Amino acid sequence: MAGTLSLPGDKSISHRAAIISALARGETRIANYATSADCASTLACLAALGIGIRREGDSLAITGGQLQKADGFLDCGNSGTTMRLLAGVLAGQGFESVLDGDDSLRGRPMGRVIRPLEAMGAEIGSREGRAPLTIQGNRRLTAIDYEPETASAQLKSCIMLAGLFADGCTTVLERTPTRDHTERMLIWFGAEISQATERDGTLIGIRGGQDLQANDLAVPGDISSAAFFVVAAGLLEGSDLTLPGVGLNPTRTAVLDVLRSAGISVSIENVETVCNEPVGTIRVRGERIGGAGPIHLSGKVIANLIDELPVLAVAGTQIDGGLEVRDAGELRVKESDRIAAVTENLRRMGADVEQFADGFTVRRSKLQGARVDAFGDHRIAMAFAVAGLLAEGETAIDGADCAAVSYPGFYDALASVAE
Ligand code: S3P
Repeated sequence: MAGTLSLPGDKSISHRAAIISALARGETRIANYATSADCASTLACLAALGIGIRREGDSLAITGGQLQKADGFLDCGNSGTTMRLLAGVLAGQGFESVLDGDDSLRGRPMGRVIRPLEAMGAEIGSREGRAPLTIQGNRRLTAIDYEPETASAQLKSCIMLAGLFADGCTTVLERTPTRDHTERMLIWFGAEISQATERDGTLIGIRGGQDLQANDLAVPGDISSAAFFVVAAGLLEGSDLTLPGVGLNPTRTAVLDVLRSAGISVSIENVETVCNEPVGTIRVRGERIGGAGPIHLSGKVIANLIDELPVLAVAGTQIDGGLEVRDAGELRVKESDRIAAVTENLRRMGADVEQFADGFTVRRSKLQGARVDAFGDHRIAMAFAVAGLLAEGETAIDGADCAAVSYPGFYDALASVAE
């Protein structure tokens, strides 16, 4: 695997750029907005809420303003981030909205956002804590001091966005750090966010009624998409792959540390801050430079690499001593049950793998090409494309098209650098 590959814009940052520019005064131009189907769902919802969105060359221009009641329901597609972040915004509007999505999204837990938003004064109907969500907004929410029940950036962001529409200062006590793109993006748009380190974690504060100002920005390449290439190139001998312009926010880079500890040669060059996010070049070479397993991942680091665990499971088959993941029960409520999905697919490929309620163990194994299933989950599809490259013989992935949820063009990009 060799060459240089530019990755599509970061999905998490793109969602936030679109939603926050919709709330800001003026027009924001966003360069390198994610091409993912999930981020298109966010744009479609914002357009249905009356926000002006135009394409301008390679950029997107979004004119912020007062949201208006949508005519029908808001379709979040497969995107949990769209649903949970918009729930926070819509809780603070003076009208009713209905958020819905595909079967996978309808199966995911929403009680975690419903409970705090109701405590702030919104009324939310659901199907036993699942979508569709009918949100009766309230223009004067009440600020709360909130301690999330789950380490989740989506949940934290939902409450922070609702906090913009609350009387007083809303606080979130985060005991386990999760991606901080919402904090950085709000600051980019002129908001004041307090972040204090406490004994128990970080206390984030946001005052209601703040004015946000449009501010053009460029979205960095998606490190979660980069991870598939870093694993593949790092494990295929003789590779030399360069990935420029990738987001290197420290709340997202644990995957690189894990791969380094497995002896994979990953280096970072040209780091700079772009629009309040660190961005740089990742270079990965297919040469093992010491380091060996077993690798145990548990506790606070899990939130920092939650989306990379499927491809790390695949990497685990090539690491001396294998890989064990614990405290990752959240994987069971992602776009698929990712613990069950990686276990099933790795077994089909002949790997020695065991699952637990909150994780899995993968032992070093030779992979054999097999017919596997994407289980309707983009990250499972892409992880097993990488597994297919590492295996002997041919691998076929049923439902592989769902990769477009985060990375349209993924298979072409993989083919373009695979030798
Ligand atoms: C995301 C947060 C994570 C992650 C998801 C994107 C975000 O979910 O898995 O792909 O953009 O905030 P949780 O917050 O539910 O852990």
